[in-house]
Amino acid sequence: MDAMINICEMTASDTEAVAAMEESIFTTPWKLRDFEDLLDQPDRGCIVAKSGDMIVGCAVFHNIVGDVDITNVQVKEAYRGKGIGKRLVKAAMEKARAAGGERFTLEVRESNLAAISLYESLGFTVEGKRKNFYENPREDALIMWNRKARNNL
Ligand SMILES: CC(C)(COP(=O)(O)OP(=O)(O)OC[C@H]1O[C@@H](n2cnc3c(N)ncnc32)[C@H](O)[C@@H]1OP(=O)(O)O)[C@@H](O)C(=O)NCCC(=O)NCCS
Repeated sequence: MDAMINICEMTASDTEAVAAMEESIFTTPWKLRDFEDLLDQPDRGCIVAKSGDMIVGCAVFHNIVGDVDITNVQVKEAYRGKGIGKRLVKAAMEKARAAGGERFTLEVRESNLAAISLYESLGFTVEGKRKNFYENPREDALIMWNRKARNNL
């Protein structure tokens, strides 16, 4: 774990840096507006990791009547492997649970072993697959669930 990393809720002044990070990491990136839409929402939110003033990661959740979709997780390449992704997802799950979330789900590229390991380390297991869910490149999505997060956080 990196003690110099601060985990907190995204604010309006963070959105441009988060969108720039998103664009540098994903082939089909969310837009600035997608992150702005997460501000001040009771059922969704974005947790960010900061090294000083610099955004180095984020995790997004959307609570749909108790089922929480973790819709976006990312850490800047130079900051990976330090436990930041795990801290981000954990914080997003805790925040979502405080807002009534009970079960957690997400989709992940079948080849994304780093992300799958991260989610497994937080109690998620694979429960299904969506054929050709992703583009650029086309790939199946694994559907993972954690239905007992209370015991795992
Ligand atoms: C997936 C991602 C967020 C992981 O972030 P990270 O900060 O490097 O992950 P952490 O250091 O918190 O690791 C969490 C767990 O996953 C495991 N893990 C992380 N990267 C791994 C890798 N490359 N290979 C194997 N396991 C890995 C760690 O061992 C750790 O497990 P542990 O707690 O049992 O020791 C990061 O690699 C990333 O941003 N990737 C690009 C964007 C992406 O794919 N996002 C997910 C979309 S679904």
